[in-house]
Amino acid sequence: MIQLENLHKSYGTGSTEHEVLHDINLTIESGEVFGILGSSGAGKSTLVRCINLLEQPTSGRVLINGFDVTNVQGRQLASLRSQVGMIFQNFSLFQQRTVLKNVTFALEIAGVAAPKRIERARYLLNLVGLEGFENRYPSQLSGGQQQRVAIARALANNPSILLCDEATSALDSTTTASILDLLHRINQELGVTLIIITHSLSVARNICDRIAMIDNGRIVEIGDTEELLSHPHSDILKTLVHNATIENHRHKDISSHDSVIRQDKLAIEDSLIREAQ
Ligand SMILES: Nc1ncnc2c1ncn2[C@@H]1O[C@H](COP(=O)(O)OP(=O)(O)OP(=O)(O)O)[C@@H](O)[C@H]1O
Ligand SMILES: [Mg+2]
Repeated sequence: MIQLENLHKSYGTGSTEHEVLHDINLTIESGEVFGILGSSGAGKSTLVRCINLLEQPTSGRVLINGFDVTNVQGRQLASLRSQVGMIFQNFSLFQQRTVLKNVTFALEIAGVAAPKRIERARYLLNLVGLEGFENRYPSQLSGGQQQRVAIARALANNPSILLCDEATSALDSTTTASILDLLHRINQELGVTLIIITHSLSVARNICDRIAMIDNGRIVEIGDTEELLSHPHSDILKTLVHNATIENHRHKDISSHDSVIRQDKLAIEDSLIREAQ
C-alpha cells in the first residue's frame, strides 16, 4: 500500500520558491492499477517521483506498506528504490549496453553474482517477449521493444510497485495496446502495483482500476475509472472526456469513410471482372 499524507512539494528557494504539489492525500492499495491524469505541468511526474523519493517532499509523509520512508537515506533509500521500479516515455536505456546488460544493471549494483543475474535477466526478457534479443543494442530495437527492455530492467529487483510515467506516449496505438497487455499481465501474474501517468483516456480506460485527476498540483477528482469517465464532475475532466469523444467520432468518421471507399473499390473490381467474363 502507498499512502501520501498532506504532501507538499516546492521548487526553488526564497523569491523563486513555488509550490507545485499542494496538500496531496492519497492511498493506493497493493495490487491496484492506479491512473494519474492531468494537463502538462499539473504535477503528475513530481507526485510520482515523490513516491520513490527521486524528489524529496517539502512536507508531509510517504508511507510504503505502512513504513514511513519520507526521510530514509543510505541503504534504506536504496532498498526503497529497489521496491519501486520506474519506466519513462523515452525508455532511458543505457545505449552502450546490450539488452541483457541493461537488465542486469541493477543486479550488478546490488552485488548479485554473474550467473544468477544472467539467469534472472533471461527470465525477465522471456517474460516481456524478447528472448533472442539479449545481444542487441537499444538503437537496434523498435520503440515498443525498447520499452519492453525498460520494463524488464525495472523488474530486475522484483519490485512491488512499478511507476509508469507516460510509458506509452511515444508509441503507436497497436504497440501501446501490446505494452498495456504486458503491464496488465505483470499486475495480474506478479501482483505488482502499477501507477500509470497518462494523457490518454483510452489508456486509463484500458488498464486503470481507479484514476485521479490532478490540476495545478491538487487532486480535483478521484474514483473508479468507468464511473469517473462516465460522470466527470470537474470542468477539467469534463473537457477531457468531451474532447476525447469528439476525437473518437472523428476517427470513426474517417474509418467509415475508408470502408465506404474500400467497398466502392470492391464493387468496381467486381463489375470489371463480370464485364470481362
Ligand atoms: N526540477 C524542477 N525545478 C523547478 N521546477 C520544476 C522542476 N520539475 C518540475 N518543475 C515544475 O513543476 C511543475 C510540475 O511539473 P511536472 O513535471 O510534475 O508536471 P507534469 O504534470 O508531469 O507535466 P507533463 O505532462 O508535461 O509531463 C511545472 O510547473 C514544472 O515547471
Ligand atoms: Mg510529466
